[in-house]
Amino acid sequence: MDRAFLRVATIAIATIVLAAVLGERVGAGEGEEGQDPSAGIERYRQMLEEANPAELDEMRGEQIWTSPAGPLHATLERCDLGLGPGVLKGAYAQLPRLFADTGRVQDLESRLITCMTTLQGLSEATIVAKPFSTAEMQSDIEAVVAYVTAQSRGVVMHVPLGEPQERLAYALGERLFFYRAGPYDFSCASCHSQDARRIRLQDLPNLTTKVGAQQAYTSWPAYRVSQGLFRSFQWRLNDCFRQQRFPEPVYASDATIALTLFIAANANGAIYSGPGIKR
Ligand code: HEC
Repeated sequence: MDRAFLRVATIAIATIVLAAVLGERVGAGEGEEGQDPSAGIERYRQMLEEANPAELDEMRGEQIWTSPAGPLHATLERCDLGLGPGVLKGAYAQLPRLFADTGRVQDLESRLITCMTTLQGLSEATIVAKPFSTAEMQSDIEAVVAYVTAQSRGVVMHVPLGEPQERLAYALGERLFFYRAGPYDFSCASCHSQDARRIRLQDLPNLTTKVGAQQAYTSWPAYRVSQGLFRSFQWRLNDCFRQQRFPEPVYASDATIALTLFIAANANGAIYSGPGIKR
């Protein structure tokens, strides 16, 4: 189906559903059920999930995965995401993790960079030049993220912490999460360490609790209805760094990997349910 049409149609449907859900709320009397806007928004999200345009990105990602590319004319089908070459089922639910061949703790994106450079001979600079899609340009790595994460849907999160380097990354991620700096002296925790907080109509998940980390992490990456674009977890982090008035982090850097590992490991035990759909 035509992508632009689908984007417009999804936004239109989303708006109608949101209006219906919120209208229902306004109609509800004092003390009745439906007073909590979060419940309405949650229903809205569930209704949208049944027709998530992220599926188009998953399909595009599969095509990229199986098409020869780069100077070596190779596909990504032998890429090892931690469970062996070519094993995709459940791989994302165990990332980030330590990889013996690189000696690094890697998240999905940094590992895809490893596969694209070693298997296909692409330069890292080419890959990271377009990490995030815009209205005019579709990012290849983001589509591959959609395809790979979808292969872990329904799988229990099990990020390993057995290796000292993994535990070190967890500790670094935790420090970064609570690290206060910038013009407002904000840390991630400034916005994400209390229950039932909201900025306007957006829930602020308490990421310091297990259930908060589980709900947040397992629903990313996600299709963003308001932007009409599929968004990776890296994008989510970058946007929060921006809200924190911090400089934009380097793509697939050890800092973002550590922060991702901290949240992902805290989500262990939950069923991964991405790619999700967000407002
Ligand atoms: C100034 C407040 C603020 C700060 C500081 C902040 N965030 Fe956020 N964060 C938000 C808001 C608002 C949202 C929801 C955005 C939306 O719905 O569009 C969000 C969403 C998220 C989500 C997705 C939650 C979900 O369920 O979809 C994650 C994960 C997250 N933030 C992590 C972080 C991390 C890690 C940091 C520190 C680097 C951080 N945030 C710093 C405001 C903040």
